[in-house]
Amino acid sequence: MENSVKPVQFAVSILIGVGMLSVLGQSRLFAQSAVPNAQLAGRALNAKVDALLKRMTLEEKIGQTVQYSAGFATGPEGSKISYDELVAKGAAGSLLNVIGAEQTNHYQHIAMEKSRLHIPLMFGDDVIHGDRTTFPVPLGLASSWDPKLIAGVARTAAVEARADGINWVFSPMVDIARDARWGRIVESAGEDPYLGAALARGWVEGYQQNDLSKPDSVAVSVKHFAAYGAAIAGRDYNATDMSDITLRQVYLPPYLAAVDAGAATLMSSFNSINGVPATANPYTLTEILRKEWHFDGFVVSDWGAIAELRNHSIGPDGATVARKALEAGVDMDMEGNLYATTIAAQVRSGAIPESVLDEAVRRILRVKFALGLFEHPYTPVTPAYAPTAADRAQARAVAAETIVLLKNDPVEGVGALLPLGKAMKTVALIGPLADAAQDMLGSWGAQGDAKFAVSLKQALQERLGDHLLYAQGCGVLTGEDEKILLEGKPAPDDTKSIAEAVETAKKSDVAVVALGEDAGRMTGEAASRTRLGLPGRQEELLEAVAATGKPVVLVLFTGRPTEIKWAGAHVPAILEAWFPGMEGGHAVADVLFGDVNPSAKLTVSFPRAVGQEPLYYAQMPTGRPAHGDLSHMPANGEEQYQSRYIDEDNSALFPFGWGLSYTRFRYGQPTVDRPGIGLADLEQGHGKLTVGVDVRNAGSVAGTEVVQLYLRNTSASVEQPVRELKGFERVTLGPGETRHVEFSLGFDELSFWNAQSKRVVEPTTYKVWVGGSSLAEAEASFKVE
Ligand code: BGC
Repeated sequence: MENSVKPVQFAVSILIGVGMLSVLGQSRLFAQSAVPNAQLAGRALNAKVDALLKRMTLEEKIGQTVQYSAGFATGPEGSKISYDELVAKGAAGSLLNVIGAEQTNHYQHIAMEKSRLHIPLMFGDDVIHGDRTTFPVPLGLASSWDPKLIAGVARTAAVEARADGINWVFSPMVDIARDARWGRIVESAGEDPYLGAALARGWVEGYQQNDLSKPDSVAVSVKHFAAYGAAIAGRDYNATDMSDITLRQVYLPPYLAAVDAGAATLMSSFNSINGVPATANPYTLTEILRKEWHFDGFVVSDWGAIAELRNHSIGPDGATVARKALEAGVDMDMEGNLYATTIAAQVRSGAIPESVLDEAVRRILRVKFALGLFEHPYTPVTPAYAPTAADRAQARAVAAETIVLLKNDPVEGVGALLPLGKAMKTVALIGPLADAAQDMLGSWGAQGDAKFAVSLKQALQERLGDHLLYAQGCGVLTGEDEKILLEGKPAPDDTKSIAEAVETAKKSDVAVVALGEDAGRMTGEAASRTRLGLPGRQEELLEAVAATGKPVVLVLFTGRPTEIKWAGAHVPAILEAWFPGMEGGHAVADVLFGDVNPSAKLTVSFPRAVGQEPLYYAQMPTGRPAHGDLSHMPANGEEQYQSRYIDEDNSALFPFGWGLSYTRFRYGQPTVDRPGIGLADLEQGHGKLTVGVDVRNAGSVAGTEVVQLYLRNTSASVEQPVRELKGFERVTLGPGETRHVEFSLGFDELSFWNAQSKRVVEPTTYKVWVGGSSLAEAEASFKVE
């Protein structure tokens, strides 16, 4: 890393007000283009890159664009391949899935000592929500609405990844996800671009620290570019199809925020966008990413995605699709084995200009130099990981911040059921997720180990000893499901164990029922579902336990919003705990017993029925909006012709932004510091107005509220969503305390994409709401004129 570029970058940061902390605040969340990344664009750096490039043969250049998974038998000839030989020849620029300092050093020594030009390797891995210390899954982390918390998670993950020899993480995943059927919603930050952008910044800042050359920084790979989350019908790897406005207004902002925060690399996605595969898409990869956003890092394909272009029918053979990917702007081929085998001949024949290859190599080398790998290629070997008290404390505190209290109704003679009071002496813990340490780690567990994970059963046992009763009740799946998902496994008969669970509940004062999904098989990549109910016989178990008349707390461990309409109506208290990581059991117990007052808020809408998917709060308006509760058949003809379902409400069961606390927050009337703001001021970037609101903790315990600001643009050249999040802030208030919270609105918040693909502001009236969820009612308005 060149010292000379650091002060420049620092100065740039100061000028635009995006120092480490303010980056994580409200500024530049909706940047229009990225600030050039001084770490990757410095003149001295480019001179080094060019000098090296000049010395490279065609084969050595291509080698830099090739990545193989040496961690398990893949690559050109599967298990027969010798990665040692490839690296010695300079025929691979990066390896993935090679974990541990000894292993990475082994290959790095070959690269540095045996390859002709001594170019270091990058070692990539899916460090997604922690490396060894496992934090909640990303959808859970997003529920904290806390970019600083996320930056802290990324920091710990980076330190551990570097100790494991990994200098490049395939994170953050910033795909907007609005369809709960899609298994990868668990890896996302949910449905909202504004929140997604804020959290994307947190991830990048935490991993890269604004200085890739630090020995404990890792390069990020922001994925999956682009719009992967919009897979039609929620089916993984499926096509996406959307207007340019939707692409830019909904799907792109988090990637842009990550690029603006200095992301070193991006990963191209499996899907096509409007008929053009994202891995061979000149519009997203070159026009937008390089030309509009000034991205100076490199793009790696997703696993095998270049080879899969053949299935997208955009070329007759591997050579053609490889050329298309390279020319579109994919610089490195992850596991596709097409750059390695088809590019050289095409450059020699003139089918691919060598300058195109040179540019890809330059981008890759820039990141390697910026990471300081030429000076410090090796990883010191450190003792095997065991979680320290500090690791556990961080994992526990983080997890507690991600648990959403969906419902907490009073129970006769008890009051609000949670937190569990002294009267609840004997607790029956029931359900297939109660004693499921492995599931606590979620999908993409990296180097996380279930032996370090704390299940809810373990945590409650520590607290309650003999006062804890336990019965599993049933498995996660039914016998039938098991047969489908796990070939040939004998079908368990749960009838007896459900009856046992009922007997256990009868002996208790309260039943805590832990239900959900199998983290490994039902959530994450290639785990889309058409049914969103609790799998197997879990609903039956829940209803049977509730029928005992004992108060029930439902704890959900899931990687997506599930369909829990019955529970929503009949179970007094519900916690969504996601897959909360290594300390998940403790964190859930902390919330159950009130040691932690929950503060998390949903970043995804919970449907009443799967048929509502994709479901999200920022819907476009319709000429025939639905009024009121229409879950019944309309009584007269007029009501019938509304945008609604004949058998279900339009609204979410639990909406975006929703999450309760053990205290109550009361909102005053929002005020705007002036009636309107001038168009020209906004366009020149210095116009701002301020919306203020008083928030009071009206309960008797301290609590943290995520104060949310929503806007509606009531008149524009292209229609705008009925509500859009444009500000949020976490505030912690003691009992009786009031805080005045202010939000600043300027071009970033008030502009939108018009039909000419221009980001504009127009004269209009805005409605503004501030409150504790997307249902916020306190309203004000202002004009843009
Ligand atoms: C996934 C990526 C991941 C890559 C490398 C792919 O199947 O889509 O998210 O980073 O594999 O493991």
